[in-house]
Amino acid sequence: MRYKLGLIGHPIGHSLSPWIHKHFLDLAGLDGEYKLYEGDHQQLPNVLKYLKQEGIDGFNVTVPYKQMIVDFLDEIDEDARILGAVNTVVLQNGKWKGYSTDGAGYIRSLTDPFPNLLNKNTSVLLLGAGGAARGIYRALIQEEIGRVDIANRSVVKAEQLIASMRFPGVDTQVLTFQEAEEYLGHYDLIIQTTSVGMKPHVDQQVLSLENLSADTVVSDIVYQPIMTQLLQDASDRGASIHHGHAMLLYQGQLAFEKWTGQSLEIHHLVDELEKKLRGENS
Ligand SMILES: NC(=O)c1ccc[n+]([C@@H]2O[C@H](COP(=O)([O-])OP(=O)(O)OC[C@H]3O[C@@H](n4cnc5c(N)ncnc54)[C@H](OP(=O)(O)O)[C@@H]3O)[C@@H](O)[C@H]2O)c1
Repeated sequence: MRYKLGLIGHPIGHSLSPWIHKHFLDLAGLDGEYKLYEGDHQQLPNVLKYLKQEGIDGFNVTVPYKQMIVDFLDEIDEDARILGAVNTVVLQNGKWKGYSTDGAGYIRSLTDPFPNLLNKNTSVLLLGAGGAARGIYRALIQEEIGRVDIANRSVVKAEQLIASMRFPGVDTQVLTFQEAEEYLGHYDLIIQTTSVGMKPHVDQQVLSLENLSADTVVSDIVYQPIMTQLLQDASDRGASIHHGHAMLLYQGQLAFEKWTGQSLEIHHLVDELEKKLRGENS
């Protein structure tokens, strides 16, 4: 069998997904292709019709289609339904089923280097309340982490995020960035999910780390650049850091599992992708 896989979104010319899935196909010893299918907002129904005609086995979904695709699929996984977003679509028995692998992919990327970090005593600060934060927040509460606070520029958006997926047993509070800066030393893990610090604004940092404890792990899901200003600052203060490109790999690993049934060992690719990104950034 030759797998037909791909990505839909706009713009996707610089996507790393073809690189990632080519490596996954090679690792799995499978024949296949992973193509980019680019279109604008109005073209989504046509793109989907074309994919069905092509006989595609599955595809990833990125900006701006993650939310709007929900209305065009035959079935939606429970997590993706609650998140209101899909990043992976699988053809199952002639029907398209949508999943979200971002949150679970993030958890895998984190527990790979930090296997004992997440437990019921862990205290997490999530910075941001956008699409990526929603997936990560849901995955964290499913892990039954003790405390997950959220700080966001728009406090209302953070409150809406929590209200959309209340979960008993997890303490959550919404904070302003100023409050978060003050309480920073109380957290075991800080996860940065805003777009602040992303290329070309590489000298920006969403909040001050003045009160950071060196025992805290600081994670930034922004991966361009690979060493964000926030991660550099955290590292300079003696904290452990976690780079965003690993999430990209592990959400892809979960998508690949859904398409092919193969669960791959991809640890070594984290360094490979880092090298690729550093090369592109220099
Ligand atoms: N590593 C990965 O695999 C991966 C996966 C997904 C996303 N990402 C990255 O994560 C970032 C966010 O993506 P997303 O899809 O969640 O975007 P999104 O839904 O547009 O959310 C953007 C978030 O950034 C905040 N924000 C934007 N500009 C800000 C500023 N100047 N000051 C403070 N906060 C600001 C927004 O706050 P408000 O709510 O107040 O507007 C919101 O919380 C992007 O850089 C994206 O590339 C990485």
